[in-house]
Amino acid sequence: MEPIIAPSILASDFSRLGEEVRAVEGAADWVHVDVMDNHFVPNLTLGLPVVTSLRKATTIPFDVHLMINDPQRWAPAYAEAGAYNVTFHAEACDDPVALAKNLRAAGAKAGLAIDRDTPVEPYLELLPYLDTILIMTIKAGFGGQAFMPELLGKVRDVRRRADVNNLQIRIEVDGGIAADTIEQAAEAGADAFVAGTAVYGAADPVEAIAKLRALAAGRMGAAGSTGAAGPMGLA
Ligand code: DX5
Ligand code: ZN
Repeated sequence: MEPIIAPSILASDFSRLGEEVRAVEGAADWVHVDVMDNHFVPNLTLGLPVVTSLRKATTIPFDVHLMINDPQRWAPAYAEAGAYNVTFHAEACDDPVALAKNLRAAGAKAGLAIDRDTPVEPYLELLPYLDTILIMTIKAGFGGQAFMPELLGKVRDVRRRADVNNLQIRIEVDGGIAADTIEQAAEAGADAFVAGTAVYGAADPVEAIAKLRALAAGRMGAAGSTGAAGPMGLA
């Protein structure tokens, strides 16, 4: 699979959201939209009205990351608003399979997010019901945090299971993804990469995306799909 690069508009200029999204057209695969409700996470960002308006400003598919309580109640509306993928948090949902089915019925891909302190093991059985699994590589809630390489073990676990069962699921990483971290995430088995600061904090966001894509593509499949560990297994 080719890498998916998903710039996070959390790091963009919120007063010019339409322009910021259009600035990565032709370069980004998805636009990552971080919805935070000030309850599931302390931060507060944007919600359905903004996503609905922004949907009209671009043709890039939206990857909506819901950091909210009660996603069973709120998530399907994002699918109806035209989101390509809607990801909700495992920690906020007591029936992920039911919600994934509802999201698919509403026309979106269904994603499950695993936060920093949540083990992935209990969720491996659910992979067949999901289109994406988002492994946080920080604690969800704020952009600009330092990447935590110790969380890549979860990416390896998901990759192993997905390969064994021949699942087409996208394995996405989010948090601190940049030129100096994306290769290790790709090696662990990730194939979709969220990048906020590394794209919108760059002088040239399009160039930043191209660089991230090249780095990820150079490492994807290098070790993850065989379960081997790290670059030494390459030769
Ligand atoms: C944080 C969000 C991330 C955030 C990543 O909870 O889920 O998507 O935008 O920002 P960076 O890439 O700056 O770590
Ligand atoms: Zn996110």
